[in-house]
Amino acid sequence: MKPCWWTVVLLAVTTVALCSPLINELEPGQEWPKRGSVKQPQDESEDEDTLTEETPPSHPEAEILGEIKEEISSLARAAENADTKVDYSGAQLWKVSTEKTGVRATLGRLRRRNLISTWAGNQTYMDILVKQTAVQNVTRVMKRENITYDIIIEDLQKRINEENPPLDENEVELQDRRGHRMTWKQYHRLEDIHGFMDYLAKTYPKIVSVNTIGKSYEERDLKVLRISDGKPTNKAVFIDGGFHAREWISPATVTYIINQIAENFDEESDDIKNIDWYILPVVNPDGYEYTHVKDRLWRKNRRPGIGRQCVGADLNRNFGYRWGGKGASSNPCSDIYRGSRPFSEPESRAIAEFIKTSTANFSAYLTFHSYGQYLLYPWGYDTVAPPDHKDLDIVGKKIAAAIETTGGSKFTVGCSSKLLYPASGGSDDWAKGQGIKYTYTIELGDTGRYGFVLPTTFIEPVAREALAGIRVLASEIHKL
Ligand code: ARG
Ligand code: ZN
Repeated sequence: MKPCWWTVVLLAVTTVALCSPLINELEPGQEWPKRGSVKQPQDESEDEDTLTEETPPSHPEAEILGEIKEEISSLARAAENADTKVDYSGAQLWKVSTEKTGVRATLGRLRRRNLISTWAGNQTYMDILVKQTAVQNVTRVMKRENITYDIIIEDLQKRINEENPPLDENEVELQDRRGHRMTWKQYHRLEDIHGFMDYLAKTYPKIVSVNTIGKSYEERDLKVLRISDGKPTNKAVFIDGGFHAREWISPATVTYIINQIAENFDEESDDIKNIDWYILPVVNPDGYEYTHVKDRLWRKNRRPGIGRQCVGADLNRNFGYRWGGKGASSNPCSDIYRGSRPFSEPESRAIAEFIKTSTANFSAYLTFHSYGQYLLYPWGYDTVAPPDHKDLDIVGKKIAAAIETTGGSKFTVGCSSKLLYPASGGSDDWAKGQGIKYTYTIELGDTGRYGFVLPTTFIEPVAREALAGIRVLASEIHKL
């Protein structure tokens, strides 16, 4: 290493230290109260949770080491991205009816032979991606076993190429004038999303603040934006998106919601203003970036696997409530790999630690996924419902009704394990286990025409509907 490099690092560290605002410079809306080190009553009786890992104390050497590590991992990332993107030419999306007995078993075999992967499904059908090299083979198996299916997408790569076209000149010009690059006419890179959050905090310091609640495996920031007028009587809502890397409509929708509430706070309803909003648009930043530069259809995080294969854990199978039960895999190569232990992944651990240590009075937890148009409430781990499932169902149906009135999309409301399939280790189950009343997983559009590769023209209509749903939720929270 050249000596000048060290100087730059030292300088950077000092600058960061000197530029951090002092506590008494913070606006009321910028204080993020944490629970004291005193044990909280609800911290007891937690046999399911194992949030045991402690963050090491920070000192200058550790910070410099951190910088070096960051530098190395960014070099490694650059090298990884240097080779070409995964090509989905000739790969297809099929909708397979699973009502006949034996169909699921057949699909399971095809999946284990790596000929197909699962995109979505419920009790009656499954959407599968058929690899280009497997189309003939899988077609033969379906014929032989008399399984009916529809080909929904003939050539996935063609759809991927058309999904996210560059902005036209006028839009780019607007972007430059606005102070941030975020639009809802395109799917943006992480940098634009984070830049947008920082812009809001700078522009509206009285109500908006941004905090990094942890780092991803590859050390990207996990940025939470808070919108709050600081009233001590406020309730709180936690919203996240981007758990699964390829579900691009999720961060797009969550940032749309942020934009609406932050930019128009003064004109917003009291229902909205009397809530502290905590919003994490990209839970899985490593996976998200990976879907932009390397593999559009990546789902998990980017924890290294065995050699080049079997990378990543499914963050929505990694939470410590009934971890390791149904619908999660112990096989690191699986797309629903649960991780090596509950909260083994930094991304899931950061969310849990943040929610547990915050003094905010969370009445709702919303996690945005795609696709299928479902409003799902716990439990996910098995086909049982929580004691207050009727409340969740009633409010869920009100949200779905508002969505339909706004944009016409029909959302199916129900208990996730019954409506879809049991899947353990989900963030929704964990949040519900923490006593957060209105906990929902929202599977945004579409219902399977484009699946994950939803063209950008859908962003605004989908997000507008979701915002209408949020308004209903806000009003229901105040009835509690
Ligand atoms: N599609 C989501 C997933 O597979 C659904 C999660 C529902 N929640 C649950 N705890 N199973 O991750
Ligand atoms: Zn998902």
